[in-house]
Amino acid sequence: MVEIFHTTLSGEAATESFAAALAPLIKPGDLLALSGDLGTGKTTFARAFIRAFCRVSDLEVPSPTFTLVQIYSAADGTDVYHSDLYRLKGPDDIEDLGLDDERETTVLLVEWPDRMPADWWRNALKIAFTHVPDGADASRNLEVSADNVDWQERLVGRIGPQ
Ligand SMILES: Nc1ncnc2c1ncn2[C@@H]1O[C@H](COP(=O)(O)OP(=O)(O)OP(=O)(O)O)[C@@H](O)[C@H]1O
Ligand SMILES: [Mg+2]
Repeated sequence: MVEIFHTTLSGEAATESFAAALAPLIKPGDLLALSGDLGTGKTTFARAFIRAFCRVSDLEVPSPTFTLVQIYSAADGTDVYHSDLYRLKGPDDIEDLGLDDERETTVLLVEWPDRMPADWWRNALKIAFTHVPDGADASRNLEVSADNVDWQERLVGRIGPQ
């Protein structure tokens, strides 16, 4: 595991500006694995990321809790898949979601990525949110890491604590 950086996000706005800063650095084929307990900010991050990536500031981005996957199109034609696997019934169900379709040409954001087969997210950028113990309600710890150095080379010096 390669740590890229960690920080404390002081409120929802800090999570949103981190997402907006990351968006221009993400390209087709990338997978962002968003992990963390319920209510730690995965969907908040994804919503701000998708709005920035698609360059539509008021784009409707509902939580995919029940639909399991929502698909957005950026102006350049890149599709962004936003998935939440919390309610996935079993490993076989994941095949039906089509997350693997066109993997090289889409951007994929996955909440609860540990529900995916391990080899699906081996090359993911791992973004982990945690509640700050005894911290303010609006604070979240953020850890960004990857299993290979490619992400580190791409991101170090270009993104950091907000
Ligand atoms: N620093 C922060 N970053 C993100 N959200 C925050 C922060 N502080 C407080 N919040 C609040 O926490 C909640 C996060 O909800 P969100 O739906 O993004 O969580 P989630 O991780 O996607 O949960 P779930 O696992 O249920 O999908 C929102 O109500 C948001 O306003
Ligand atoms: Mg969510």
